[in-house]
Amino acid sequence: MRLEGRGAIITGGGGDIGRGIARCFAKEGARSLLVDLREEAAKKGAEEVAAAGGEAFAIGADLTKEDEVEKVFAEAINRLGQVDILVNAHGRASRMFANPLERLTLEEWNDMMTVNLTSVFLMTRAVVAHMRERKYGKIINLASLAGRRANENLPHYSASKAALISFTQSIAKEMAPYDVNVNAINPGFLFSPIWEFGHGVLMSTQKEEWKDLSSREIYDQIVKSLAPLGHDQTPEEIGMLAVYLGSDESRSMTGQSLSLDGGVWML
Ligand SMILES: NC(=O)c1ccc[n+]([C@@H]2O[C@H](COP(=O)([O-])OP(=O)(O)OC[C@H]3O[C@@H](n4cnc5c(N)ncnc54)[C@H](O)[C@@H]3O)[C@@H](O)[C@H]2O)c1
Repeated sequence: MRLEGRGAIITGGGGDIGRGIARCFAKEGARSLLVDLREEAAKKGAEEVAAAGGEAFAIGADLTKEDEVEKVFAEAINRLGQVDILVNAHGRASRMFANPLERLTLEEWNDMMTVNLTSVFLMTRAVVAHMRERKYGKIINLASLAGRRANENLPHYSASKAALISFTQSIAKEMAPYDVNVNAINPGFLFSPIWEFGHGVLMSTQKEEWKDLSSREIYDQIVKSLAPLGHDQTPEEIGMLAVYLGSDESRSMTGQSLSLDGGVWML
């Protein structure tokens, strides 16, 4: 098994992508601590892993808070013994359109940066000394296609993800001498709550022809029109890429952000 004996923290472990990663990690022999603002959702993720014969633990935490992040790290050491892999897979969608830009409130801007970026800084800072000391570690950040591609309606979401890609590169360079690999995954489209209750709902206000469509119908149209491959991604696809980045197979890869987006981004 590719992650035999590894201990992993998976944030957003109650979300669609986080749970998918947890299932894939368990299949490859890792034990995980699933962290989520919604403790019940994290527990559900851990139960899914257990039902498939793996081992995972759950904890509720708001990762924008320093003391809660410290508690998560302590719980990980307590449950797993060591942290070999940190996957930052939490995040939030936009709560408003920002086009025209004057519409974007400072509160929404700040909250987006705090949840999608500052919390990743806090979580990463909490594990790096441990990884440096052990001269081993894999950090995987869930950025986004939106961090690569201009988005006139969601500049704050895009900026938070572009900054996360940049943060990934800087920490990759800092941690390289200690054999800690730091990479990002840029998913394109998964119909998770981020779309169902976030972007998709907002989109319905954007175009006249979308006003009577459901989030799902708008989402399907966007995927078809943007993705050369014509389809969206599954949590398992993201999970299998995370397995690669979390395993020794990727020992020479660091500072990268890998697009898994049906071919939207090609460069
Ligand atoms: N779904 C997509 O199309 C898509 C595309 C590109 C990138 N992403 C990114 O992938 C990641 C996972 O998204 P998803 O689709 O699984 O969404 P999701 O909503 O299913 O999961 C996100 C999880 O993060 C948790 N979370 C939010 N704020 C938190 C906080 N302060 N502390 C702890 N947990 C918190 C939520 O409770 C939720 O369970 C996000 O960073 C998202 O931006 C998603």
